[in-house]
Amino acid sequence: MTETSATEFSFLRPLWHHSTLRADHGVEPVVLDRGENIYLWDAQGRRYVDGHASFGSCIVGHGRTEIAQAAYDQMVRGAHLPSVFGCTNEPAARLSHKLLELTGHEGGSVRYATSGSEAVEAALRIAFNYHVNRGEAERRVILSTYGSYHGTTIATMAAPGNVENAHYISDLDVMFRRLPPTPHADERASDSWVATLEATIEEVGPHRIAALLAEPIPASVEGGIRVAHLDHWKKVQTVLRKHGILHITDEVLCGWGRKGTLFGQQHFGVRGDLITLSKGLSSGYFPISARCR
Ligand SMILES: Cc1ncc(COP(=O)(O)O)c(C=O)c1O
Repeated sequence: MTETSATEFSFLRPLWHHSTLRADHGVEPVVLDRGENIYLWDAQGRRYVDGHASFGSCIVGHGRTEIAQAAYDQMVRGAHLPSVFGCTNEPAARLSHKLLELTGHEGGSVRYATSGSEAVEAALRIAFNYHVNRGEAERRVILSTYGSYHGTTIATMAAPGNVENAHYISDLDVMFRRLPPTPHADERASDSWVATLEATIEEVGPHRIAALLAEPIPASVEGGIRVAHLDHWKKVQTVLRKHGILHITDEVLCGWGRKGTLFGQQHFGVRGDLITLSKGLSSGYFPISARCR
């Protein structure tokens, strides 16, 4: 296929994403061709700084041959070594030890999937199961925050409550109870948010709530990043613990060293009961996500 044909609408047509600018919108798309370190080149040879690191994924830069080599070595050893039906494999177990050590969940367990959305789904499922196994099956409500983002599966899209025109997810409004967006770094704003959390728990009934799902450092829909007051998540956890509500910390975007600490929650000195990881986990070299507990 020649470079010219790669930019023609007829060629690009089958690759669809709702936010991809397409030739039929009168905007010529950028056809990305290759990357090296922080740079990307398009099919015309123009160079760009990959300023958002491939949507927060490529945290160690493009073109890392050692990562490609490790993937190659493992792939030629076996295409898919399952970890179900009594099987397991050593590299996956080794990575699990590493993740549990890094997240402070030594002695816990890890479950892998291929996207951040699935990791969040797995965390929701395990939160429900945890309560069922403790004889509290009526805990079916998840507290979430408006303006957050947790993925593209039906449940993860429903969590933030801000997807317009998506009527098919409104049935899940009974599962999610949305709180205001995470406050900015103002102590009074944090206290007011925590008061709203307590009032909401009171209103819904603590015995009906399974978990709070939130990013420790969320990217807000109106743009920008929200870094709450340093004590914010400690105060939140005190309230959650009092009511037996689990804390799911979605580290898919804010994890892997973006705040100086390895994970966003470590900046606030807290540890979620369930942690979701993706993006930087493989630096975008492989579709992998994890849920640690
Ligand atoms: C905080 C957060 N959670 C979950 C997801 C979903 O990840 P994925 O797109 O891999 O499904 C994202 C993606 O941007 C995210 O930023």
